[in-house]
Amino acid sequence: MNSVRVLTGIKPSGTPHLGNYVGAIRPTVRASRQSGVNSFLFLADYHALITTQDPTRLQRSTLEIAATWIACGLDPERVTFYRQSDIPEIPELTWFLACVCGKGLLNRAHAYKAMLDKNAAAGNEPDDGVSTGLFIYPVLMAADILMFNAHQVPVGRDQVQHIEMARDMASSFNHLYGDYFTLPEAVIEESVATLPGLDGRKMSKSYDNVIPLFAPPDQLRKLIMGIVTDSKAPGEAKSTEGSALFQIYQAFATPEETAAMALAYADGISWGDAKQKLFERIDGEVAPMRATYDELMAHPDRVEDLLQVGAAKARAVATPFAARVRHAAGFRALQAQLAEKKAPVDKTTLPAFKQYRESDGLFYFKLTDARGRLLLQSQGFEAPKQAGQAIARLKAEGYAACMDLHAQAQGAAGVSSTEIEAALQALRNAE
Ligand code: TRP
Repeated sequence: MNSVRVLTGIKPSGTPHLGNYVGAIRPTVRASRQSGVNSFLFLADYHALITTQDPTRLQRSTLEIAATWIACGLDPERVTFYRQSDIPEIPELTWFLACVCGKGLLNRAHAYKAMLDKNAAAGNEPDDGVSTGLFIYPVLMAADILMFNAHQVPVGRDQVQHIEMARDMASSFNHLYGDYFTLPEAVIEESVATLPGLDGRKMSKSYDNVIPLFAPPDQLRKLIMGIVTDSKAPGEAKSTEGSALFQIYQAFATPEETAAMALAYADGISWGDAKQKLFERIDGEVAPMRATYDELMAHPDRVEDLLQVGAAKARAVATPFAARVRHAAGFRALQAQLAEKKAPVDKTTLPAFKQYRESDGLFYFKLTDARGRLLLQSQGFEAPKQAGQAIARLKAEGYAACMDLHAQAQGAAGVSSTEIEAALQALRNAE
């Protein structure tokens, strides 16, 4: 019930390679299997539209990426796995957030500034090639995150600024309309394994040095045979240091297998044999996933069905929440106007503070729930005004924010701080 909501978006672009698998897919799938985590994972296809305007390619990438994640063990039963464009509440929320997001904030976005710099260097107009979609990318991303009130957003370093912007928009909205959005935290994957590519540099599409994750076995072997090595002959001891081959092996092998490979290096294993071992190791892990992937690619309707189930799960959260947000901002049925003015609050259903004086001459207060059960008991104050101030702070700031008051007001036995928070919240809402 009190699980952490973790949310991540995947831009469907390009064919996934071993670097994506080791650095992002495998760790994310593992993390999504932990208990106590409520995981939201989605295909950010609206974001992809900013760079891909080829409809066939967008559709194909979406299918490929969805099939890849499922093949790699993502369990759509445990995780809410959906496609951004199936949730119409997201673009709707984008507009609400756009209206509380200063343009200056977006001007400062790294990705946008990089475009400005590039244009300046090329002697172009500052905004040359910048679509409005690219400019408001961070607003759409904020909507993705805030729609589900995510606590944590695991991202790479380059995305941290976007999470900060989402917090900014959430705060602005909350300040105007009330406490609707959770402020998300970026979780930076410090230890993300980067895999070297065929040429020894980081495996990346832009270096053209990748090994596709689901390359057929003969192509996989051929690519692996092309990984750069030095020219040491068979029988000569080889160094694991700086060996791309060794690093890739390590990313797929157990510590024992890795230690054995290090020994083989020292013993002068031939590069051909080492590459064969690497091929076998990778193929061992990838082959079952490849079979699932090929199966899904041959049956796109199955992938579509899974995404539809995911969309229904996501919308079960998004639709009612979006309705609250619309209402908060004043998008209401017109006849609701009067009723909305102030619904009378039935005081007997609310928690209550009571102030009183004891025979010791000191002034006390207590908080009881609607049925009169004691939630919080204060210590004695010299003056009634002090007790009143303590109550005002608890009401305004909540129990957790008033740590310094704890010595003077303590939760009653068997009462959790969450219960006290909820009671204070109920009082606040009723005001
Ligand atoms: N911008 C992210 C990327 O390029 C993808 C993304 C879109 C995302 N919406 C998100 C990531 C929401 C996390 C949360 O990788």
